[in-house]
Amino acid sequence: DFPEEIIVARQQAPLVIGFGAGEFFCASDTPALVSHTRTVLSLENGELARLTSMGVEVYSFAGERLKKSPRILGWSPVLVEKQGFKHFMHKEIYEQPAVVRACLEAYLDSDWQPGNPNSPINLNLPKELCTDVEQISILACGTSWHASLIGKYLLEQLANIPTAVQYASEYRYAPAPLTPNTLTIGVTQSGETADTLAALGMEQQRRAGFTDKFRSRMLGITNRTESSIAHMMPHVINTHAGIEVGVAATKTFVTQLMAFYFLALDLAHQRQTISTERLAEIIAGLRQLPAEIEKFLEIQEQYVEELSHQFTETQDFIFLGRGINFPIALEGALKLKEISYIHAEGYPAGEMKHGPIALLDAKVPVVAIAMPGSVYEKVLSNAQEAKARDARLIGVTPKQGVAEADIFDHILPVPLVDELLSPIVTVIPLQLLAYHIAARRGLDVDQPRNLAKSVTVE
Ligand code: G6P
Repeated sequence: DFPEEIIVARQQAPLVIGFGAGEFFCASDTPALVSHTRTVLSLENGELARLTSMGVEVYSFAGERLKKSPRILGWSPVLVEKQGFKHFMHKEIYEQPAVVRACLEAYLDSDWQPGNPNSPINLNLPKELCTDVEQISILACGTSWHASLIGKYLLEQLANIPTAVQYASEYRYAPAPLTPNTLTIGVTQSGETADTLAALGMEQQRRAGFTDKFRSRMLGITNRTESSIAHMMPHVINTHAGIEVGVAATKTFVTQLMAFYFLALDLAHQRQTISTERLAEIIAGLRQLPAEIEKFLEIQEQYVEELSHQFTETQDFIFLGRGINFPIALEGALKLKEISYIHAEGYPAGEMKHGPIALLDAKVPVVAIAMPGSVYEKVLSNAQEAKARDARLIGVTPKQGVAEADIFDHILPVPLVDELLSPIVTVIPLQLLAYHIAARRGLDVDQPRNLAKSVTVE
């Protein structure tokens, strides 16, 4: 009856209106609009809009006309161009040095020198957010859940705060007891994952009736400062990755890790659980990361590509890691599953003997992440066990002077960095491995079947 107009309404799932020149758009997510316009308006729950060729009118559900002004996104349309890459995912893997650099610029004091008693980190969070915090609860899904597992490692090992990581979709039905000294952190690159938002909403409700200080002990880590989580949370860390178009998260993952490094180090500094020497060492290592990643991509990508072509017909993969690199084994397996549709499992290397070792034979390649440090020898010995079952072994390990690494059939040589920082460099060859296998199989890398960039349904 009204062919010249569209009525849209928002209740829970996000809705964004775009304003072009004589044309108007609606979408459930801002990246969908960026190649058309950067002028956008996000509707709130309980609002509706009427789009015609003349303009956009916004109303409450009760029919009252609302005055709302659009805002201009800070993103450049260049971010949604492939710039010579065949796929966005590949381009986004290459953007990782730049986004890590952007995080360093945003949160690290560039003048800070070892010996300076002040914290080198400024996350723009009020100090009382974390004073007296006795435990941390992190809620997330998918790749963000993997980043959170690394966050847990950092918060426990550096800042000495017991930390639990929960799948947001599970947590709602079995929430842990909440004490006034719990800090709840929600991690979501899109800021719109329905399960994560619902779990955080439940935590907000459970806090109602407590003091202001307790109620505001919630923090969002997101790449989208205009998203639902950013509106919902009293405090937010922006991960500064720019738009990520590929469904499989790459650059948003490494920037989530950067957020956790900064948070854990800042808390460790405040609580004096880290020596000044160790703090200075880690800060120096963080500053080196962009150059290390750049060098890796420049020198090793071709080799990773050639190697990956040997696995295009493989049906199962196992990824092993321990300690801070166990979540990277999970992430490597998830990347492969998501875009190449190859069955893959990530496992803590020491647990392999309790079941998955039965899967191994010459047809199942095993990727072992072996970074020099606290669990290096252990991982090598677990890899050896796999080799004894005829598995083809791929090591994600530095090449320099490691004769022990001779056990590997192939090596994806990563830079030798501090073990604590190693997830940022070990994840990159695994992203590339998954990418090249999927691209070689001719699959739709950026939009894999059955998946979506923002999962706005529970
Ligand atoms: C989807 C994507 C995953 C992503 C997950 C969580 O399932 O396919 O790649 O990790 O959502 O997304 P979020 O936006 O909450 O980080």
